Amino acid sequence: MSRVSYVNGRYMPYGSATVSIEDRGFQFADGVYGAIALINGCFIDVEAHFDRLEHSLGDLKISLSKSRRSLHLVMHELARRNRLKNGFLYIQVTRGVAHRDFKFPKNVKSTLVIILCSGSFGKIAVKKVITVPDIRWKRRDIKTTALIAQVLAKQTAVEKGADDALLFDNSGFITEGASSNAWIIDKDDNLLTRPAKDAMILKGVTRNTLLRLCREKNIRVIERPFSVKEAYQAKEVFITGSTSLVVPVVEIDGHKIGNGKPGVLTSELFKMYMVYANDPKRKQERWNEK
Ligand code: PDD
Repeated sequence: MSRVSYVNGRYMPYGSATVSIEDRGFQFADGVYGAIALINGCFIDVEAHFDRLEHSLGDLKISLSKSRRSLHLVMHELARRNRLKNGFLYIQVTRGVAHRDFKFPKNVKSTLVIILCSGSFGKIAVKKVITVPDIRWKRRDIKTTALIAQVLAKQTAVEKGADDALLFDNSGFITEGASSNAWIIDKDDNLLTRPAKDAMILKGVTRNTLLRLCREKNIRVIERPFSVKEAYQAKEVFITGSTSLVVPVVEIDGHKIGNGKPGVLTSELFKMYMVYANDPKRKQERWNEK
């Protein structure tokens, strides 16, 4: 089956979908994106993803002349045309096409690209990670396409035989994963995750949903930074994100976490998240979205 993507108002075969060489996304990484999970025919937490996309666009003063409703329609149409019920959707918006000049161009329409890839959810995965200094810019609350620091972090991980990377700040505290939020269950059984109130980390939609689910189940979460050392000594470590959901981390920099297998609470949280994602009420949401 040939895949279909969406570029500036047109559904295009994946292989021939292109944007200009003078697109500011290509020239300057002058753009933002969102990644949304499609699970059993439903896009998860769409409104929260749109809220964050609008926050990122707003802070970079990029305008997108498409309503949420139109975006929903395109997303469902892409799922239909690609015959996919499970996958990852990437919405990418750049400032548009203009002659190379650092300043914002005038009267330029933003570029909108939406790609849907197949993916599968449901089985708990595990990851070995390394830690690397967080060398990103200071506005991590903006989900920018300027991802070179994360690319380098993940490449370093692969070269060291790991799967992913956790990033740490100048004081030795974990900020987040290269494309995820980080959590630990410390030696005193506290479930900890770094607060997302400042711009030090991305306000993860999955993180936020999990916080809500924990509140509903009376699972106490303490939002405070934790150090690399605390992570080494933790009983359980996991990361969250829209494409990976809840993933146990079983090794950090060669230190085995717990018994090297997914921990009890992490497995429970993964199940809780899957129940939430597969809630039959979401089917209703799916049609309301349309
Ligand atoms: N990344 N932190 C960073 C730096 C991220 O890139 C992501 C997601 C998250 C988790 O956010 P959310 O739960 O809203 O997906 C945290 C996506 C999955 C990506 O880059 O593909």
